[in-house]
Amino acid sequence: MRRGLGGHLRCLRVAAIPAVFVFLASCASNAPQDTLSPDGPIARKEGNLFLFVFAIAAVVFVLVQGLIIATVVRHRHRPGRPDPIQVHGNTKLELGWTIVPALLLVGVAFPTVFTIFDIAKEPTKNVLPVEVYGHLWWWEYRYPTLGISTANELHIPIKTDVRLSLHSIEPGLPAAKGEEFATGVIHSFWVPKLAGKQDVVPGRVNKLTIRAERADTYHGQCAEYCNLSHANMRLRVVSQEQAGFDGWVAQQRKPIDVPQSGDAAAGFALFKGKGTCIGCHTMQGVQGAVARVGPNLTHLMGRETFAGATFDITPENLHKWIENPSAMKPMRPEKGTGMPKIPLSDNEISQLVAFLTTLK
Ligand code: CUA
Repeated sequence: MRRGLGGHLRCLRVAAIPAVFVFLASCASNAPQDTLSPDGPIARKEGNLFLFVFAIAAVVFVLVQGLIIATVVRHRHRPGRPDPIQVHGNTKLELGWTIVPALLLVGVAFPTVFTIFDIAKEPTKNVLPVEVYGHLWWWEYRYPTLGISTANELHIPIKTDVRLSLHSIEPGLPAAKGEEFATGVIHSFWVPKLAGKQDVVPGRVNKLTIRAERADTYHGQCAEYCNLSHANMRLRVVSQEQAGFDGWVAQQRKPIDVPQSGDAAAGFALFKGKGTCIGCHTMQGVQGAVARVGPNLTHLMGRETFAGATFDITPENLHKWIENPSAMKPMRPEKGTGMPKIPLSDNEISQLVAFLTTLK
C-alpha cells in the first residue's frame, strides 16, 4: 500500500520530536563546565582540533547517511519493478571509497599529533609549578616554589603557564614499607574551560599545563570514577591578576591568629584536644597540626566551598558537616577514607565552628 502525503508528514513529525530534544539539550545559559566554550589557550587548541575533526565527521555523516536514505527511498521495492543496477565489484568505486577515507584520516592525524605534542610540551618561560594530590574525595594543592598549600580551590595568576604534577595519595591509609603515604585510586583532573582531562594515577606523576588569560572562577570535576563520592570531588580554579594572586599567597603564608576568648577560643581548644582535628588537618602556627589526611584548614574562610568544592562555606553548613559528615557526602571514614563523625555536643560543634570561621 502506498503511503499518502499525510503519512509522510506524520513520519516527519515523529522524527522531529527527538531532533527538537537534541537541539534543546544544547541550550544552557549557565554551563560552567562547558568543554565547547574553552577559555584559555590550551583548552582553545584542543577545542579547535575538536571542531576541525567534528566538521569533517559531520560532512562524512551527512553524505553517507544521505546516500543511504536516498538509495533506500529511491530503490525501495514496488510491485513489478526490476532490481536496480548492481555496482558490486566496480573497481573505480571501490578504490574511491578506500582512498578518500584514508586521505581524510591522514588529514585528521596531522593536526591531532601536532596538537598532542604541542600541549604536552614542558613550558619554559614564566612557569608556576603546582603539585596536585587527588584524595578520596578532595583535591590538595601544594606550591613548592611558594611554600604554601590549599585545597579544592586552586589559585593561579593569569597569563602564566601553570604546570601541574598530578599525584594520587591516601595519607589516611597505611603506607607500604618505605613509602611516605599509601597510594590512592585513579582520579582525573578536569577543568573543561582550561584544559582537557588528565588522569591522576597512583604510583606515577602525570603532567598537565593550564593557563588562564583573564581573571575568573572556573569549575571542574574529577572525571574518573573513584567510588562513593566521585560526583562530590569537584574543584575550582580561581585565576587572578598577578597583584591579587601575590596578595592571596601572602595571606596563605600566614599562621592563624590564635583566638584568645569566647566561643572561638573554646573551639580552638577542641580543635587541638577533644575534637582530635589536628590528627588529620594542617594548621599553620599550631604545634603538631601538619597532617595531610584532610585539607589544610589554616585559611579555610578564604575559600568559597568545602568538602571537594561541594558545599558553600557557611556556619550552618560547617555545623551540619561536623555533626555528621557522611550524611552530607557519602564517605567511608571507618575504612580510613573521608571525614569521621566526632562525638561532640551541639554546643561544642558551635564552638568549633566559631573557631573555624575566624580562619581568614
Ligand atoms: Cu576522584 Cu572521581
